[in-house]
Amino acid sequence: MIVEPAPAKLNLALHVRARRDDGYHELETLFAFVTDGDQVTIAPADVDSFAITGPFGAGLAGEGDNLVTRARDAFRAVFGEGDAHAITLDKHLPVASGIGGGSADAAATLRAMARGSGVAADDPRLMTIAAALGSDVPACLVGRTMIGRGRGERLEPIEAPHWPVLLVNPGVAVSTAAVFAGWDRMDRGPLAHGDALTIALAGRNDLEAPARALAPAIDVVLALLETQPGVTLARMSGSGATCFALFADAADCRAAAATVAAAQPGWWCLETALA
Ligand code: C5P
Repeated sequence: MIVEPAPAKLNLALHVRARRDDGYHELETLFAFVTDGDQVTIAPADVDSFAITGPFGAGLAGEGDNLVTRARDAFRAVFGEGDAHAITLDKHLPVASGIGGGSADAAATLRAMARGSGVAADDPRLMTIAAALGSDVPACLVGRTMIGRGRGERLEPIEAPHWPVLLVNPGVAVSTAAVFAGWDRMDRGPLAHGDALTIALAGRNDLEAPARALAPAIDVVLALLETQPGVTLARMSGSGATCFALFADAADCRAAAATVAAAQPGWWCLETALA
């Protein structure tokens, strides 16, 4: 049995530079990962099966076209059929929330399938499969702090501090395609040069404005996170609606988590750290 973590992805900065002819957008983003997320388990079986467990599992149940089974099928199309598998996705991350849940699950499935069949983790064919599954899947396959360009698939590693971070989602699912479609097509410039923290602090998320227009609850989340004692940076991740708050001090992060949970008991809140 192979157990593979599927950590949440953050965009510490996300600069949208141009709309492409293929409908996608040219990005410059600072990807980071946290130490918590979903989990994919793969076990040998007589017939293929796929089950979803966990607190956010119900939202996905009955979805025939999960990214996990698509990743499994794409892996087999390249590396051969092999054995049947019982796959379980333990879903802890909110769905359609800007922290790459589905992409992380697909990447974890590819890593697990590779481990199970003796394919090297750095086999370039895995990256090709990942890019075909979704723009964030290559970054999730590598799973470390990186600058991403193009659709997000041109990746360059960068060192980052393992800082405490609080993730907060107001319980509103946001469509990535709808948020990108709301971008005002104004290029506000590239990422800054320097270390990860410099890039993050000097950066922005260009999808924040269109996401806030679609989901005004994001305004409430950011207003709360920005005023927490000790916060270094509060920003939306990806196309939202999840926002993050970075702290230098774990005690400040813990206090902020308690404040948010008390103020908004219905929101999803995860106290974690940059991986
Ligand atoms: O690649 P993925 O399927 O995750 O993208 C979902 C949607 O997000 C795309 O259909 C597209 O509308 C939008 N997108 C984009 N530019 C990117 C990544 C995603 O326009 N670089």
